[in-house]
Amino acid sequence: MRRKIQETIPIRTIGIETERENLDFQHRPPHRYAHVWFAARPTPVSRLAVLASVLPDSVDDDTLLDWMGFKPNNKPSDNSISDHVRQKRETKDDRDGLEHEHYGYRKIWRYTPDFETKSEIHKILEDSWEELPTVLDATAGGGTIPLESLRYDLPTIANELNPVPSVILEAILEKTRTEEDVTQDIIKWGKEIDQRAQNDLQEYYPEQPGERNQSYLWAHRVKCLDCGLKVPLASNWWINKGSTSREGQSARPIVHEDEDEVEFKIVNLPEDITKDDFNPTDGTISYSKMTCPRCGVTTDSDTLKSMLQEGEYDYQLYAIYYDKERERGHDFRTPTEEDIQAYQKASEVVGQNVDLSTVLSVDIPSGQKTNELHRNGMKQWRDLFTPRQLLTHYTYWEKFEEVKEEIREEYAADTADTVLTYLSLVADKALDYNSRMSSWDPGQPQIRNMYAGSDFAFSWSFQEHNLIMQGHGYDWMLTNIAEDVYSGVREQLEDSEAPAEVHQGDAANLPIEAQSVDAVVLDPPYYGMIMYAELADYFYVWMKKYLQDIYPDFFHSQLTEKEDEAVANPSKFEGLEVKNKSKKELAREEYESKMTDIFEDLYRVMSDDGIFTMMFTHKETEAWDTLTKALIKSGFVVTSTHPISTENQFRVQQSGRNSADSTILLASEKRMKSASDYTLWEGVQKRTREAAAKRVKELEQEEAEFTKVDMMLASFGPTLEIFTQEYPVVDDEGNEVSPQKALDEARGAVRDHLIDKYLNEGVRDVDSKSEWYILAWLMFEAKRFPYDEGRRLAIGVGENVDGLKKEHRLWRSRSGDILLRPHGDRVQDVNKPPENRSGRKPVDPDSLAFNLSLDKVHAAMHVYKAQGETEAWNWLKERNCDSDPSFKSTLEALIKVIPNSHDDWEIMRDLAVGETGDLLDLELDSGIFEESDLTDKQDRLTNY
Ligand SMILES: C[S@@+](CC[C@H](N)C(=O)[O-])C[C@H]1O[C@@H](n2cnc3c(N)ncnc32)[C@H](O)[C@@H]1O
Ligand SMILES: [Zn+2]
Repeated sequence: MRRKIQETIPIRTIGIETERENLDFQHRPPHRYAHVWFAARPTPVSRLAVLASVLPDSVDDDTLLDWMGFKPNNKPSDNSISDHVRQKRETKDDRDGLEHEHYGYRKIWRYTPDFETKSEIHKILEDSWEELPTVLDATAGGGTIPLESLRYDLPTIANELNPVPSVILEAILEKTRTEEDVTQDIIKWGKEIDQRAQNDLQEYYPEQPGERNQSYLWAHRVKCLDCGLKVPLASNWWINKGSTSREGQSARPIVHEDEDEVEFKIVNLPEDITKDDFNPTDGTISYSKMTCPRCGVTTDSDTLKSMLQEGEYDYQLYAIYYDKERERGHDFRTPTEEDIQAYQKASEVVGQNVDLSTVLSVDIPSGQKTNELHRNGMKQWRDLFTPRQLLTHYTYWEKFEEVKEEIREEYAADTADTVLTYLSLVADKALDYNSRMSSWDPGQPQIRNMYAGSDFAFSWSFQEHNLIMQGHGYDWMLTNIAEDVYSGVREQLEDSEAPAEVHQGDAANLPIEAQSVDAVVLDPPYYGMIMYAELADYFYVWMKKYLQDIYPDFFHSQLTEKEDEAVANPSKFEGLEVKNKSKKELAREEYESKMTDIFEDLYRVMSDDGIFTMMFTHKETEAWDTLTKALIKSGFVVTSTHPISTENQFRVQQSGRNSADSTILLASEKRMKSASDYTLWEGVQKRTREAAAKRVKELEQEEAEFTKVDMMLASFGPTLEIFTQEYPVVDDEGNEVSPQKALDEARGAVRDHLIDKYLNEGVRDVDSKSEWYILAWLMFEAKRFPYDEGRRLAIGVGENVDGLKKEHRLWRSRSGDILLRPHGDRVQDVNKPPENRSGRKPVDPDSLAFNLSLDKVHAAMHVYKAQGETEAWNWLKERNCDSDPSFKSTLEALIKVIPNSHDDWEIMRDLAVGETGDLLDLELDSGIFEESDLTDKQDRLTNY
């Protein structure tokens, strides 16, 4: 039987809906508020993956979309749903009224199918599968996939290795599906905990009359080695940033000549002081270096780090954010003596109390992400808290333990477990918002959770949240967990009767019978992107205290299990490098072998006519190669692939790195024919190129907003189909060909297509080093991209990427990525005599001949910038640039590929117009310079 996912599916519509969900930060699906988890999937793609895997191909797109909740009330009857959604997407910025009125339906995560719809779907499913198919997600994380499966009332199995998300899965998939609704009970007991904790903690959080403290703003502090000032560390002193960069509130440091403590004053800009007299953006930290505000001496980042590591620091409270009790609104004040004493009292209690002085004295293991903690002097998990934060979290835990007994007396065992599980989620939310890693967001202003990124980014200054505060403290988190999460998910699953199983353990060793699963829908770990277990330990050490007696199997070890985790983690191989193999390579091999083990077990539990749909998001080609090998080894054949663009361009620019992501859905079946017939590479090579080019053209027709990198990934889909179907592939000498070779072929096909489409023919005659630079801009559309991608691109043009760096300084490294250098990094200053110029810059603008055409273009740009149009004209003429095809092609190409917001672009534009433009007479579309309007310039100011 062919499934829907093996035919066409409405990828563009799902992409648009995913974008709607992603961009709405205020309203997420309820289960997403249960707990931080990493790489949570949006609902549309999860729902699609489940339904399209089980439904037969006879179901058309509109029927599928209707069942998924796309029910526009404003669609003309002769329009398909896909066309309607696409048109609405195009006109969304011009709408009046609310977004959902414009689209004619609410976001689909809000939609749960009614009884009739489910019956209709189930009837079709029973006809094609005999009985309702069982859906398995073996790496279920925060649970979007199994939740969607259950909402459509399909028998569902969720498995997850890490105990932290396993608790989330228990909470949302099982504990919400009981007879009794315990929303009010969770609230009642949570309030009880809160009340008791408040009684104990009040003395440590004194308040001024009429005020309720919400957050305490702290800065880590170290001594200036030169003058002895205790310097509070912060990259800026904004506490409430207005809409322009000249207005807002700031904590202004006041330095005294005879006092080693810095004092603070809250100032309003521009009323109290203008930015010319005090610029809050000038913090004490810049590029990880500290500058003392008293003597001006700079401490470099190594010295600073070693002071943190040696514990030679404390923290200074510099502002308190409070709610006004009577009027609405908030404000800031500076701390009083009373505030400081209360904090000190809390520190003393922690030092004196036996339990408190040892709680969480669990060493933080070294690791890819946790090393960042070590570098900043945090050696044990308790070090992530100030003493008062520790005291507060501990007190809440004690109160939880107290009421635990009372809850168990009042309710049946299962109900008690439900209430307790949800109460522990409240505690974890409090942990996410209250540690030395949780920062203050002056833009809103509001607190920021520490796991805003998937790492342990250290904040020089941080915020301490006042959990006992009524309105925004623990009570707010409690309401969120009870009403939004528990009650919200409960409502979604109200009419669901299908059985659900949750397992905690390795997906390579599932406690599931052979051939008992019909559809596997998998969103596997992100290669080396996210170190789930390292990140989860922060919660694990607390969760263990809260829940060990309820889930004894989850919490038997001291920290989370890292051996079985399927991630590529080079830090595991520290010191274990063997000859020829780097840590990175060893990590890659381990990931491949873990993924193979997982796929093999999935093969075992899957029925012979089952389907295996996987979501894949990796940008690195290595991950694709690894994945293909693992699929082949475990006996799967890829039968169709679909790229879904999440169309969130927004993030791209923020980092100067192209990170808009798309997800590829890969559908596989069990290989039925034996893998003994060899296929010749030559044929596979040709088909791969054709299929890749075809896929890219199809996507261009769809008009989805794919980045070029995503286009390339999309082309890997058909490559995998061909490669796994034709496996094993051999060259004419009989040697087996690796999937990498086919992926490179696909990459080449896409590159050629893009060159044809975007660049002039002449670019093919440019020297290969300059070509690499041009293609890098073309493909990655950003100055920063992963090293390995740049390396592969270099191989494609016959170059060595490291040589391009060392000899030609085309790029430099940043955190393992490639950063393309602008012309200013490469050309010597023409206004200086040769002996005074930087020897590091390879291009001499006085030269008459250049090695690379890029050098010549960069030199021309420099001359224009340094000496103006007339000198540039002479320079160009003297070097025959007007009749130099490589020079012209390179300049034309760079104007096309470098974003308008880049400084170099503007200079190239100046070269291409006016007198120099007349001389060069470039072949460019007349419209190319029109887009450089004001918005682009503003973009540049904020984003680069
Ligand atoms: C991409 S995430 C899944 C996210 C999920 N789809 C969601 O929406 O929240 C991958 C998950 O695989 C888990 N994992 C890693 N190694 C595993 C293994 N060997 N067995 C089972 N799960 C594993 C990680 O802990 C992580 O939660
Ligand atoms: Zn100093």
